[in-house]
Amino acid sequence: MKFYIEGQKTLKGELYISGAKNSALAIMPATILLEKPVILKNIPDVEDIRTMSELLKILGVKVKKINKNTLEIDPRDINKYQAPYELVSKMRASIYVLGPLLVRFKKAIVYMPGGCSFGPRPIDFHIEGLKKLGANIKIEHGNIVAIVDEFKSAHIQLPFKSVGATIHLIMTSALLKDKKITISNCALEPEVVDLAHFLNKAGAKIYGVGYDEVIIEGVNKLEIDEYEIIPDRIEAGTYLVAGSFKNNKILLRNVIVEHLEPVIDKLLSIGVKLKIYKNEILVEGIEKPRSIEIQTQPFPGFPTDMQAQFMTLLSIADGVSIIKENIYPNRFAHAYELMRMSADIKIVENVAIVKGVNELTSAIVNATDLRASASLVLAGLIANGNTIIENIEHIDRGYEDIEIKFNKLGAKIERII
Ligand code: EPU
Repeated sequence: MKFYIEGQKTLKGELYISGAKNSALAIMPATILLEKPVILKNIPDVEDIRTMSELLKILGVKVKKINKNTLEIDPRDINKYQAPYELVSKMRASIYVLGPLLVRFKKAIVYMPGGCSFGPRPIDFHIEGLKKLGANIKIEHGNIVAIVDEFKSAHIQLPFKSVGATIHLIMTSALLKDKKITISNCALEPEVVDLAHFLNKAGAKIYGVGYDEVIIEGVNKLEIDEYEIIPDRIEAGTYLVAGSFKNNKILLRNVIVEHLEPVIDKLLSIGVKLKIYKNEILVEGIEKPRSIEIQTQPFPGFPTDMQAQFMTLLSIADGVSIIKENIYPNRFAHAYELMRMSADIKIVENVAIVKGVNELTSAIVNATDLRASASLVLAGLIANGNTIIENIEHIDRGYEDIEIKFNKLGAKIERII
């Protein structure tokens, strides 16, 4: 599939931000631990969620779509403990079922996720953490095979503030009755906090949520009737960047401002005009952004998932910007596509040196991953001419109705199947 984008249309109006993909991808597998069905609201209608639903269904969990953004998940008939290659290879977040399956069945087999288009993405922190909880883990025929006789209390020190490992180990620990688990150097991302809130609302005893050290006292039962997922800060950030281009004016509704602070700070420092309300942000575009330095960091630092979109914005800034990628050193595939659109970018190891040009020009470009695709859509929207983006399947993984939302604001994006 392709997008055909007519460049340089003015974007004006308001839009509603969908639920957070990465929260939903954590909370959905955590439902494996529940006693009863749960209604999950504000689930984004995106491909990764459909993949997670398929995976849960294969395990015997009932997943029913009540409406576009609401799922009912009933884990009572779960009857399998093996997650197959076809789904795990599609999406790394599938690894999250490993711990909950191990808790339910004392055995779990999950295909080993590989790298992805922006480089190696190991799962050693997940594996080491589960081992500390008492699991015996081997890799056999491409599968992670985990068994456990008895879980144990543990202190897990994460070597890095990994979002996935923090989420996975918190959910695995929640239902370990009479065990006390301390996890140090936890990720503080809002999606980690949302998962912990969900579990606590279900009866878990997770203390220190949103701090470096989280303590979990295992309980013997988790149940919750319904839960609403937080808004997607990366979707919001992407539209904030879109609103920052000249002549545009967009009101974002359904945002949590604190989650966006690192992004808001950078936008303000390049001169973008923002009006911040309780759950809304109005962004007004500027003639030319100022150049800046950005370093991606774990939350509350600047998110790696916004690096590509900011590269598009800085590619037309006044002066030279420096973008240092500290989370995924090779996450720069979009830079080479932006260069086809006249951007002046040099990559030296994990640093991109972005020299602002007067304008981007249209080209045929290739989307390689979710956030790279978003940066190319943004580039297409401001480019002189009509841009074609190939392989936009990537964008459907994480942005709900992206062309519909942009077109409502005045863009001209056509999906070519
Ligand atoms: N790492 C390891 N070993 C591990 C786990 C992580 O070395 O066992 C390394 C990674 O290679 C990386 C760093 O630690 O260098 C951080 O990775 P992290 O575990 O935090 O990332 P993740 O959980 O795999 C989530 C998001 C990503 C987002 C990152 C960083 C989900 C489903 N994915 O990935 O989102 O980029 O956190 O914030 O929550 C996206 O939405 O486009 C996306 C890629």
